[in-house]
Amino acid sequence: MTENKSNSPVLSVRNMRAGYGTLEVLSDISFDLAPGSIRIILGTSGCGKSTLLNNILGLEVAWGGTLDLLGHHLRAGVDPIPLEVRQQCGVLFQNGALLSSITVAENVALPLRMHHPEIKEDILREMVAQKLESVSMLHAWHRLPGELSGGMRKRAALARAMILDPQILFCDEPSAGLDPVTSNELDKLLLKLRSELGITMLVVTHELNSIDTIADDVLFLSQAKVLFDGSLNAAKNSSEAEVANFFRGFSSDEFSATNAVSFDIKEEL
Ligand SMILES: Nc1ncnc2c1ncn2[C@@H]1O[C@H](COP(=O)(O)OP(=O)(O)OP(=O)(O)O)[C@@H](O)[C@H]1O
Ligand SMILES: [Mg+2]
Repeated sequence: MTENKSNSPVLSVRNMRAGYGTLEVLSDISFDLAPGSIRIILGTSGCGKSTLLNNILGLEVAWGGTLDLLGHHLRAGVDPIPLEVRQQCGVLFQNGALLSSITVAENVALPLRMHHPEIKEDILREMVAQKLESVSMLHAWHRLPGELSGGMRKRAALARAMILDPQILFCDEPSAGLDPVTSNELDKLLLKLRSELGITMLVVTHELNSIDTIADDVLFLSQAKVLFDGSLNAAKNSSEAEVANFFRGFSSDEFSATNAVSFDIKEEL
């Protein structure tokens, strides 16, 4: 792992524009990601949080703007992210995105096999074991993703996202679909990874408990723009009604209860 020794941002997004066909989802997004920080992206459903992550990662072709990612200046949607930079970016997708036909261990080993085919099998197994151990999933080595609980799937996906020892971890709704206890365990795991490895994180979540536990900084998106950019404390005291309502509108318990109801509804659909 190459370390960013300065305090300069590991990621600076400037004037990013993005969308689908004629739908402009992000019209002018700029923000910095400070090294070692955890920044949460907030906003109502459909406001463009996943779109922002996908365009930063080059999974979608951005319409405009620039990225300064780990010291590389890139025109968003034009310059591909260099391979060595891509390897420094771990991604935890909303649904885990594990391959269902191979074991947990093989899922975690995938990025190593792709990027470092020269690694000997015993060393590869050792590295996979270390990462599975770090997320308390060593016992699930031989299991298939379909045999795991939601929380276990997230932890396996986290081990895979971490296997190349990235400098930045991008997470899209890591707590989605998890019960509050499992969600809290995942948050603690993210904090442990940050304190032990100094990883910087950009996390999409709307879970208030989770935000309280892990967030340093907040980016609040609304109407295709950045409505708020600052610390968690500043966000909680924001004069912007939409931001303030998000933090003041629900107590954590009420918010969890609301989520529980919406999960029930989803289950029934
Ligand atoms: N592949 C796609 N093709 C066309 N439109 C899309 C596509 N993906 C997302 N959109 C649209 O872009 C907008 C932003 O979607 P996005 O998934 O980024 O929202 P989000 O903030 O992540 O929402 P959620 O909190 O529900 O995950 C929405 O209007 C959505 O319908
Ligand atoms: Mg999303």
